[in-house]
Amino acid sequence: MRKKVTVVGAGQVGATTAMRIAEKELADVVLVDVLEGVPAGKALDICEAGSIEQHDCKLTGCTDEYINAEGSDIVVITAGLARKPGMSRDDLLSTNMKIMKSVTREIALVAPESILIIVSNPLDAMCHVAYESSGFPKNRVIGMAGVLDSARFKAFIAQELDVSVENIQAFVLGGHGDTMVPLPRFSTVAGIPITELMSSDRIAALVDRTRKGGAEIVELLKTGSAYYAPASAAVEMVEAILKDKKKILPCAVYLEGEYGINDLFIGVPVKLGGTGLEEIIQVELTDEEKEGLQNSAASVKTLVDDMERLDA
Ligand code: 2OP
Repeated sequence: MRKKVTVVGAGQVGATTAMRIAEKELADVVLVDVLEGVPAGKALDICEAGSIEQHDCKLTGCTDEYINAEGSDIVVITAGLARKPGMSRDDLLSTNMKIMKSVTREIALVAPESILIIVSNPLDAMCHVAYESSGFPKNRVIGMAGVLDSARFKAFIAQELDVSVENIQAFVLGGHGDTMVPLPRFSTVAGIPITELMSSDRIAALVDRTRKGGAEIVELLKTGSAYYAPASAAVEMVEAILKDKKKILPCAVYLEGEYGINDLFIGVPVKLGGTGLEEIIQVELTDEEKEGLQNSAASVKTLVDDMERLDA
């Protein structure tokens, strides 16, 4: 039987995610949005490309008709406002919190066994909302951020050293914001740590560019935020789950004591497989890395507290 993935939000990230899922023939896709016509139009457009791209996936687009998401294996939630120049991800908090709540409640009714991949910003805070509103267990609520942040770090390392990006492994931990924690110690080129290949000043510059990677694109696009790399990152997670690959990826998950952090979603290395989050991988961090992660967790916690105040 074919797998089914619902993508909520037919904007740039949602539509690109739907397109990549179809082109990789991972699943049939349902695209849902509040806008009239847009999800149906984009789904039809992707479907019409099928004979050229050689895929037979079924694409359905609908306006707020969550019944179409019934029985989905995975629901990728991209709905919400995106950043404009001058805005931080946190500026989206109150609007996107309301959207995330209503979407996850709808999904919990029609696809109670699905795995949620959260993409909307501010990412870690939106994972909290999804977790609480859906009532799903923590293995089925996973945030996409570390895969994107690591992809950016890998791209910058490859450009700097003029080597294939395929040779690069990189890890970024923490929240999806300015306090994220790229880890040069665990970042390698063909197994060689980048600390052996680059000066500490150059590494610091790439770490800084990675932290500001989302903002760099927002400044260039002017009308919205990145979507090609975010969609690729979400689809890597979809594929790992649908194919039960047991792939180790950095994702935002609910921590209960791991890395000394409690009751917060934050990016850490996890194993993704058929049941969603299958294991949180704990690595020994240096004092400086620990401090970076704690600092990042503190800024996520501030947002979670702000949401509680907004909700009161
Ligand atoms: C980014 O970093 C949209 O948060 C996303 O580009």
